[in-house]
Amino acid sequence: MIDKPGAKQELFLREKHRYIAFGGARGGGKSWAVRVKALLLCLRYAGIKVMIIRKTYNELEANHIIPLKSMAQGVMRYNESKKQMTFCNGSTLTFRSCRSDAELDKFQGTEFDVLFIDEATQFSEQTWDKLKACLRGVNDFPKRIYLTCNPGGIGHTWVKRLFIDKCYNKGEDPNDYCFIRSKVFDNKALLTSDPDYLKQLEALPPKLKKAWLEGDWDIFEGQFFDDFVIGDKRAQSERLWTHVIEPFEIPSDYVIYRSFDFGYSRPFDCSWWAIDYDGRAYLILQLYGCTGNPNEGVKWDPDRIFKEIHAIECGHRWLKNRQIIGVADPSIWDASRGEAIIDTADRNFVHFDKGDNSRIAGWMQCHKRLAFDEKGKPGVQFFNTCENAIRTLPLLRYSELRPEDLDTTGEDHFADSFRYFCMARPIKAKTSFKDERSIFI
Ligand SMILES: Nc1ncnc2c1ncn2[C@@H]1O[C@H](COP(=O)(O)OP(=O)(O)O)[C@@H](O)[C@H]1O
Ligand SMILES: [Mg+2]
Repeated sequence: MIDKPGAKQELFLREKHRYIAFGGARGGGKSWAVRVKALLLCLRYAGIKVMIIRKTYNELEANHIIPLKSMAQGVMRYNESKKQMTFCNGSTLTFRSCRSDAELDKFQGTEFDVLFIDEATQFSEQTWDKLKACLRGVNDFPKRIYLTCNPGGIGHTWVKRLFIDKCYNKGEDPNDYCFIRSKVFDNKALLTSDPDYLKQLEALPPKLKKAWLEGDWDIFEGQFFDDFVIGDKRAQSERLWTHVIEPFEIPSDYVIYRSFDFGYSRPFDCSWWAIDYDGRAYLILQLYGCTGNPNEGVKWDPDRIFKEIHAIECGHRWLKNRQIIGVADPSIWDASRGEAIIDTADRNFVHFDKGDNSRIAGWMQCHKRLAFDEKGKPGVQFFNTCENAIRTLPLLRYSELRPEDLDTTGEDHFADSFRYFCMARPIKAKTSFKDERSIFI
């Protein structure tokens, strides 16, 4: 019924601190350890109140309720409406999902002895504070909170502060906290049953790979596009090991894309991309400007932007008389502030499809495009004339709130436009560019 724990799982099962975090890689065997420990506590302490929390009910059911129903068959009754198991000895194990802070209120006031927060990095610090307050009760049962966590997610910063960096605020006792780092390699059961799982993690961009395979918590700090290389003059003319290159003439049968990000009172970006016969992309032209306050210099209202885009597409030798695939920021379809920007575009003969705005998947695609093959050629290069792209990409930082995302207070309009383009021509999860050639084309 219960398989043998791995070495890290055993540490987790034996721990006695008040707050115990089990963290690191995906697939490290954390949820398994939660189920087993919750069950052991319920059996060991007659009358104890234990709760398992997870962000969504579906995950809670799949990861905990269903497996625990079979693990504890015969020793408990499950009440479907209360989402609660009552054991023969009077112990209870309650399951709660909590999508938002508002949902938290539904079980405020509840008391429990031991709480498990599975995937704690999906919860805000505010939620953590409220949950801590429910750990009470006048009895001799252990009072503990067990957390499992992967780097990244809205709770990355507070989990890292308390359990990795160990920087405590007033009122927080350092002796209460304990961290057990799990790596995917620690989970022998998974590696045996699903050897492909490692390969999937191996194929991630370098930073996410370090986070999710090795459980590295530091990678989300600093420059977002640290894989973007501005080569020297020689690299730029040879077009190797650099993302910035000397412009070249675009053959008439290269496929052309146009990506667009609109900024209300902020810069907009229109980028033109050419795709070569191998499926590699080149940023060949860029129109970048500010839609801001008319008193602060040139004002690009939507009408002027699209007139200019149309004029460039009619006049430039790389673009005229070509079919251009347009992809844009989906928010320009919004008509709540008057005429939707997309209608202004259409009126000016500039047509777009709605861009895919899945941010994390989109950034993964950007990183995949930027990856070099063994010969030094990446999936995308920028003409050195596209100065706003080259200037802004290295400035972007990771977000503190959502660490897999970038900090949107930065100048991210070209980056967004780049992302819409990448999502319009996605690269599948393969390890090297060479394998991907067929899907680039
Ligand atoms: N000690 C173990 N014995 C048997 N199977 C295990 C053990 N630890 C983990 N597993 C299995 O490995 C897989 C991944 O573990 P899981 O706990 O879901 O990882 P995590 O929550 O860290 O992502 C699951 O199928 C789980 O049942
Ligand atoms: Mg899990």
